[in-house]
Amino acid sequence: MRKSGLRVAWIAVAIGAAGTVLAGPSADRQPLASHAPVKPGPATPVRPRVTFSNEIVRLLQANCQGCHHDGGIAPFPLVTYEDAYAHRAQIQIVTTTRRMPPFKADASCATFEGDPRLSDADVRAFDWWVLSGSPEGDRSLLPAPLRFDDGWTLGTPDVQLEMPQPFLPDFAAGDVYRCFRLPTGLDAQRYLSAVEVTPGNRTMVHHVLLFADTYDASSALDGKNGQPGYPCFGGPGFSAVSPLGAWVPGFRNSFLPDGIGIDLPKGAPVVMQVHYSARTGGVAPDRTRVGLHFTRVPVQKRLLTLPLVNQTFRLPAGQSAIPVTASYGPVPYAITLWRIAPHMHLLGRSMSVSVVPPASGPPLCLARVPDWDFRWQGFYAYKTPLKVPIFGTLALEATYDNSADNPNNPNVPPKDVRWGEATSDEMCLCYLSFTLDAENLTGASGLPATAPSSFDAFWERAWTASKPAAER
Ligand code: HEC
Repeated sequence: MRKSGLRVAWIAVAIGAAGTVLAGPSADRQPLASHAPVKPGPATPVRPRVTFSNEIVRLLQANCQGCHHDGGIAPFPLVTYEDAYAHRAQIQIVTTTRRMPPFKADASCATFEGDPRLSDADVRAFDWWVLSGSPEGDRSLLPAPLRFDDGWTLGTPDVQLEMPQPFLPDFAAGDVYRCFRLPTGLDAQRYLSAVEVTPGNRTMVHHVLLFADTYDASSALDGKNGQPGYPCFGGPGFSAVSPLGAWVPGFRNSFLPDGIGIDLPKGAPVVMQVHYSARTGGVAPDRTRVGLHFTRVPVQKRLLTLPLVNQTFRLPAGQSAIPVTASYGPVPYAITLWRIAPHMHLLGRSMSVSVVPPASGPPLCLARVPDWDFRWQGFYAYKTPLKVPIFGTLALEATYDNSADNPNNPNVPPKDVRWGEATSDEMCLCYLSFTLDAENLTGASGLPATAPSSFDAFWERAWTASKPAAER
């Protein structure tokens, strides 16, 4: 039996790799003298002795090493006592401020699978460990080290895709965003229950986004300069795509629940966008691979993905709190929402997405990112899939900062910015992945049945409405 359920870690898309490596290890790696025991008072919790070998290493394994290991995407490993001791001051800061592990979706709006945020107790443990001189403790208590192997994690995929030849990014102009067209060789439509990514060179691969290229638009773009792939940023470089999934460091793969499948249209190649990070060093050719897992039981419902989008906004140069909204609906179907992926570029500051019920009543919060960071975005999977009532209206509110004070502003000096694929363009978009409550493709008897007959037309309209006017 395969594990089912969307028990994915948040499919965070860690894009971009700016940031600072804080000062390196201190010359003196000896623990400081232990502080005097704290006398518990009514307001002072008892401070237990926290050591590396017993507590801290376990917290690092569970929460940090997925990125902070040799050959991982983070700028330094946090594996040994020496690693942790050398970075103890920064560890205290990034955990108490909850900057690490990175996760941007507001938990007061919705709860997501794999939310890596530390519990209060874990934050306290880091804090106390540093305050008490970061002791190593008894090495015999050390857990077995984690292994970071490169294999498929869900078993051998039914189809394995890779770029035709390894790709060596040229970092002369900073980070590299490149799309690769991967033909599947399949001669029929298929349903997928998981899409898995195995990065080739983990020190460079910061994120991977996957799309089904229904109309094979990528064939006109691919391989033009003798190198595999073509340059692209944010998306695959064309519209009319269905997102298939994403990968970031630390991501745990999982299968969709039985009976739900992602549609891979007949003849559609997979387009893989890879963000190569220039900052971690270690430049070597990359050959990232994609594995497709077919569904094993008949599919009753398709996992459909709808973009809630505004492509007509203008962000005036110099303005700092520019609101942009999008809405869609009323949606004439009861749907169950499984995943959500807010998406903006570098000027984005916040986004919140909700559904306004048809009758009176408060809007239902679907996702909120109060402090947008292009480098850490994701396909967030709901802990419990959300029921969205029929005739609800989907509403998106975003803000942008196009002033010179925005350190991420790619245009110096700022200029008016509109929708587009380039780094210096913007997007206002949220992908919603859902199933239709009324859909039953197998029928009770196992014979083919149909989707709600009007859905496909509705679907077509939604896609068309999301395209720029010139392409409709
Ligand atoms: C999803 C990957 C990931 C996870 C998980 C993660 N980190 Fe990081 N960490 C990074 C990256 C990448 C950087 C480099 C700065 C950046 O891109 O934000 C970083 C930077 C840091 C820094 C340097 C701070 C700075 O200002 O540059 C510290 C300290 C740190 N991480 C500690 C931790 C700790 C402690 C944990 C676990 C509690 C953790 N990280 C979990 C990826 C990760």
